Amino acid sequence: MTMELKAPDADKTAATESAIDWPTSIDDSAWHFDPEYLHLYDTSAWHAMSESERRTYSRHEAASGYRWGIWIENVLVRCLMDQLYELPAQDPAHKFLYLETAEECRHSAMFAEFIKRAGTPDYTPTGRIRFMGMLLEWTGIRIVHYLSILAGEEIADAYDRANSRSPRTHPVSKRMATLHVIDEAAHMAFARETIAKIWTTQDPVRRWLTRWYLPIVVYTLIDGIVHPSVYETLRIRDGYRLAWDNAHRRERFIRDLKPYTEFLIQIGVITPFYRRVWRAAGLLA
Ligand SMILES: [Fe+2]
Ligand SMILES: [Fe+2]
Repeated sequence: MTMELKAPDADKTAATESAIDWPTSIDDSAWHFDPEYLHLYDTSAWHAMSESERRTYSRHEAASGYRWGIWIENVLVRCLMDQLYELPAQDPAHKFLYLETAEECRHSAMFAEFIKRAGTPDYTPTGRIRFMGMLLEWTGIRIVHYLSILAGEEIADAYDRANSRSPRTHPVSKRMATLHVIDEAAHMAFARETIAKIWTTQDPVRRWLTRWYLPIVVYTLIDGIVHPSVYETLRIRDGYRLAWDNAHRRERFIRDLKPYTEFLIQIGVITPFYRRVWRAAGLLA
């Protein structure tokens, strides 16, 4: 019954919506994402920008990042609903999964509030990441669902932790990050517990499939978070290439994925052979 004890608190999540003092519009008085979490950080395009241009750019990256967050949570909720469709009401995970779904819906509504007030375009995810979402749903492999969900949550959590502790972050982004960290801690603990338990029950074919499929999913998640339209909107010449090739960005993702990749090594999803695949994809040092 540990799962029930860790279940999200409905009162706490109900308070989430009213916990943010939304301004009519989001100004650029502070950073919307911690500068180190901006994909152009420390590139030639970054050095060519003034401080105020960088803060404006941070608003667009934040809107794009939150849009990615909405997409992730939509895929996640679809995967959870798929499970709940068959899950007996007496199952210890039943209540948790419904409350997790409710929390994800609130998070997405919160992200959308930011985007509406930020005055940026809606940075709808690109075709590649949308295709991956469809594929995850079609294939319907539970272990891959949980592993993909956890990857998305780990990436978002690293952003949230940086934004919540940075003294430079805008109060709105800081508050959003703090609220998200609190809810996601329970989701990630549940996902880890479930993955560790169900991985041991997978047959060799499913393990083989998961080991090849997962690095592609995680690579696509990272590919999707660097949105080319941000640079087109702001007319940053060669911005997408600079962002994608940025060594700082690559190293940051490897560092932020470390708790996840270490967990996968520990439970045997990433074996010494598959480490090479993860390294080749730029997901592991
Ligand atoms: Fe969330
Ligand atoms: Fe979550």
